[in-house]
Amino acid sequence: MKVVTPLFDSSVRPRHVAIIMDGNGRWAEARGLERAEGHAEGATAVREAVRTCREQGIEFLTLYAFSNANWQRPTLEVEALMRLLVEFAESEKAELREHGIRVNVVGEVEDLPTHTRRAVEHVIDYCADGERMTLSLALSYGGRQDIVNAARALAVRARAGLVLPEEIDESFFHKEMTTQSLPDVDLLIRTGGEARLSDFLLFEAAYAELMFLPVMWPDFKEDLLIDCIRQYATKERRFGRTSAQVAAATASAR
Ligand code: FPP
Repeated sequence: MKVVTPLFDSSVRPRHVAIIMDGNGRWAEARGLERAEGHAEGATAVREAVRTCREQGIEFLTLYAFSNANWQRPTLEVEALMRLLVEFAESEKAELREHGIRVNVVGEVEDLPTHTRRAVEHVIDYCADGERMTLSLALSYGGRQDIVNAARALAVRARAGLVLPEEIDESFFHKEMTTQSLPDVDLLIRTGGEARLSDFLLFEAAYAELMFLPVMWPDFKEDLLIDCIRQYATKERRFGRTSAQVAAATASAR
């Protein structure tokens, strides 16, 4: 197995990278291709992003593969995406396991067609022992939906007397969400030229560094991802504190 040394020290690189993979349709249309062909090329870019994150020591990579709003797309396009997920799960599982990559789903896996759900559940089981990186696929995912579902679950438990309102803080709330096993997002990248979150990880990306790139997702190659990590490494993350406080805390931690 080829071992690559990460370019950035663990103290400055993001622990959790999340990506909105936008632009597959426009990439295809610009070439006179079907939108589904853009998604297929997008799946190739997914493989490269997973490999790059693994080589760069990223612990968590979360990909927005299918939103709960994407069900409104033409049936043929939805079917093509569901097929691509099956192909990805089947073709990548050996390599994912070999490299210690655990697979996880955020969103509503039970909304998926049976064939896709089974393939996804299989790759999750197959790679369950992975300890180097967690690859999360956001499937039938909506950030607001995840927050509302968590609030509803807590309300039901509170009504049954199982939870006291004063027990509910951010971390308690997060445990009810489908992202419960993930840390906060450090770096959120969106390709495709738009500067919006489109309901992705609204709770988890509260303090994320946001990077919006004009490049379409199929053209998002290793060098661009490394460039985002490089930019991230230069950021001062203050989490509401002053710059002087951050410097003092960093010095005392040394
Ligand atoms: C948004 O681009 C992209 C999607 C809705 C699907 C993303 C899916 C993949 C990258 C491939 C399959 C995923 C995996 C994990 C194998 P868009 O279609 O909205 O592009 P547009 O804005 O140019 O129309």
